[in-house]
Amino acid sequence: MSAERFAALWESLSPVGRVGEDGGYVRHSWTDTDLVCREWFIEEALDRDLEVEIDRNGNLWAWWGEPEQEGAIVTGSHLDSVPHGGAYDGPLGVVSGLLAIDRLRERGVKPVRPVAVAVFTEEEGARFGVPCLGSRLMTGAFDPAKALRLRDREGASLADAIGRAGLDPDRLGPDPERLARIGAFVELHVEQGRALDHLNAPIGVASAIWPHGRYRFDFTGEGNHAGTTRMSDRHDPMLTLAYTVLATDEVARIHGAHATVGRVDVAPNATNAIAARASAWLDARAADGETLQKLVESIHHRSEERARRDGTHVTMTAESVTGEVGFAGDVSRLAALELQAPVLPTGAGHDAGVLSAHVDTAMLFVRNPTGISHAPQESASDADCAVGVEKLTDLLARLCQ
Ligand code: GLV
Ligand code: MN
Ligand code: MN
Repeated sequence: MSAERFAALWESLSPVGRVGEDGGYVRHSWTDTDLVCREWFIEEALDRDLEVEIDRNGNLWAWWGEPEQEGAIVTGSHLDSVPHGGAYDGPLGVVSGLLAIDRLRERGVKPVRPVAVAVFTEEEGARFGVPCLGSRLMTGAFDPAKALRLRDREGASLADAIGRAGLDPDRLGPDPERLARIGAFVELHVEQGRALDHLNAPIGVASAIWPHGRYRFDFTGEGNHAGTTRMSDRHDPMLTLAYTVLATDEVARIHGAHATVGRVDVAPNATNAIAARASAWLDARAADGETLQKLVESIHHRSEERARRDGTHVTMTAESVTGEVGFAGDVSRLAALELQAPVLPTGAGHDAGVLSAHVDTAMLFVRNPTGISHAPQESASDADCAVGVEKLTDLLARLCQ
């Protein structure tokens, strides 16, 4: 595959959801922008004579071969983004999947099992707070009743959002028959670090995903006048929040882990008022589950201690927690051998991680020269992406014949 050929399909999706001067993307699930992305996928699939399906959880499937047949070889990723994210996180795996089907056909591959490209919904959890929601619902890892009650920042529920898009909220939930028909899943993804750049390798294979979780801290204090309230009389939840952010950074460094507060919400959010309440979302990740637990406990403990000093109150709620994933099955081993690529772990979550509990799964990474992800500077060259398509094709060819 030439770089130009990759770029041609890539650029047909690129304008959708690109906003502002920095070129970041806002493609939140079930918004009008997401519906345009989904429409783009459906059209590309139909142009290739693939059979398109929308499953009960809103995930899209494009089939080459008979969808009801056992042992399907599935590739794909997601089209939703974080707020002002990069272009590649998600869409690269979807575009590469479609192009890999083109290449399989051009190579004259005659699959003995169906091959599909899947698009999973709400992978980032940017709108409704729970990452990999589409794959979690499909595999039964998330309660559909709870999912329907999730709300976005404007107060719209997931039930409203999917209903508006024509999906039946009553059908949301586990899809064991579909899951049982998948023989292997391969997700190609942009690398979210610079390991491949340092190794001078265009492609890598995933060994593991760090355990990780999202935890909401709710701080309450006493709203009051910023000009007239004596410093000694205050119960300011912003102080507890600020201390919690600093403790997050320190505790993560002590544990050799990653922890971030990247989102806060303050009320009433006024310049001349002491806040009455505030919330902060902690994203915590570590190489093993025990370290993750210690990390989160320590941050929580430091936050509670500080709340006592500030005369405020803090509660912590785990919004989603994902255990460690090891990609150690046959498909991963085959990928590492067949592609002769470096094998590396990642701190990022993926639908492949969710599926790996049920299906033999592998992940391929494409070099990202900036190493930046979840931000507009995320990058990959057309030439590397074209290599990614060829390597994905090699692997799918081995699996489907
Ligand atoms: C998904 O991109 C995540 O790891 O947050
Ligand atoms: Mn992703
Ligand atoms: Mn992501």
